[in-house]
Amino acid sequence: MNEIMANCRQLLSATESLSGVKVNGWVRTKRASKEFAFLEINDGSCLQNLQVIILKDTEGHQALDEVNTGAAVNIAGDLVESLGKGQRWEITARKITIIGICDADFPLQKKRHSDEFLRTIAHLRPRTNKYGAMARIRSRISWAIHQFFQEREFHLVHTPIITGSDCEGAGEMFKVVTEKSGSDTRPSLEEEFFGKNAYLTVSGQLSVETYCQALSKVYTFGPTFRSENSNTSRHMAEFWMIEPEMAFANIDDDMNLAEAFIKNLTKNALEESGEDLALFSQYVDKNLPERLQNVLEKEFVRISYREALEILKGSKSKFDYPIEWGNDLQTEHERYLAEQHFNGPVFVYDWPKEIKAFYMRLNDDERTVAAMDLIVPGSGELIGGSAREERLEMLSDRMMEMNIDHKSYWWYLDTRRFGSVPHCGFGLGLERLLMFLTGVTNIRDVIPFPRTPKNLEF
Ligand code: 4AD
Ligand code: MG
Repeated sequence: MNEIMANCRQLLSATESLSGVKVNGWVRTKRASKEFAFLEINDGSCLQNLQVIILKDTEGHQALDEVNTGAAVNIAGDLVESLGKGQRWEITARKITIIGICDADFPLQKKRHSDEFLRTIAHLRPRTNKYGAMARIRSRISWAIHQFFQEREFHLVHTPIITGSDCEGAGEMFKVVTEKSGSDTRPSLEEEFFGKNAYLTVSGQLSVETYCQALSKVYTFGPTFRSENSNTSRHMAEFWMIEPEMAFANIDDDMNLAEAFIKNLTKNALEESGEDLALFSQYVDKNLPERLQNVLEKEFVRISYREALEILKGSKSKFDYPIEWGNDLQTEHERYLAEQHFNGPVFVYDWPKEIKAFYMRLNDDERTVAAMDLIVPGSGELIGGSAREERLEMLSDRMMEMNIDHKSYWWYLDTRRFGSVPHCGFGLGLERLLMFLTGVTNIRDVIPFPRTPKNLEF
């Protein structure tokens, strides 16, 4: 018999019964009685398992004893309407073939496991419903991000991972050195691979800015690395960042783009990942559907840093950190603004120059820069961006004030001499976005293999 090979999702969304199908998958559960056995199999193509009925006359049923939770099997049979509750379709097997047996100490035997435990088996956790769903959402949203920009004629630029400059000027970089096996002494700088210090990038921004001033609308989407030793539920040493950059544009254009972007991705998640998101609404965050719907419907609030301070000062909440001009907003402040006061995403713009990066455009008041952060309920700062200082003299002065060596940024300064134009951009952390879209509160649970201080197992 010539069977049609299909995946679980295709079979589960069939519109009519099908005879002669073949499907692969991993066994999630087995229930066996004298007469027949039920298998629930999953191949990761969708959240729902496919139920398989193995009968006495199913070829290969003698080997059922070896088919444990976690084993990989191939099933040939017929897709028929299920008489049981909970699923429309099931497979009556004609033949079962074991592809890979599973040792009895396979750790995912129970229905539910704690996130803490699953973090210790990051190589197996995608085989659970929750982490499988997360992996699919992450994949689809990455695709949607490219789609959003490509449809708007932004060009993708692959910015370097190894860099000689510290974009954010925060000194939280990992150094890149060559391995000299058997030797403890490091070569001198001249003998180093690049003949100078090299680091893993903290942001593709400075590089993408140079392409912005050639292609007008660009974006980069890649891994970024920060050695901040903060060990919080929102920070990682390795994360993925999306950074668009627009020429001939100002800070309002920047916020407009960011708002359209977040709304577009939220809509995409609801439409394209509905089944997977439903798991998070059910088990992780009951308010998720309402919160996401809210994002689509409401205009994002926009307030200046000064206004943010006034709101915080006027609140009845007790904060641990002082609310004073020149201090960065702490998590408690972000939460108050986005969760209690506005109950939705909030842009905070015009920040004191002292707490922001050197490249941000100085406002006419000479105290603030045209920077904006988007703060959202749950994940806090989701986006950080700004208008860039396009005026050579101002940029040069800012670098001087902040002790940034002009020589190593000669190429960046060049762009301010050769047809410099107003431009702006922002950075969105992919993991913060996934936290926002799923309600997951620990950033370690939205990336396949989290890199955090003292954690590099996989
Ligand atoms: O605010 P940040 O530091 O901005 C920049 O890097 C700019 N160069 C972006 C730009 O304008 N092109 O980082 C941007 C975003 C943050 O808002 C946050 O979502 C995420 O990146 N992020 C982190 N995510 C996880 N772990 C960390 N350690 C993160 N640091 C920043
Ligand atoms: Mg920031």
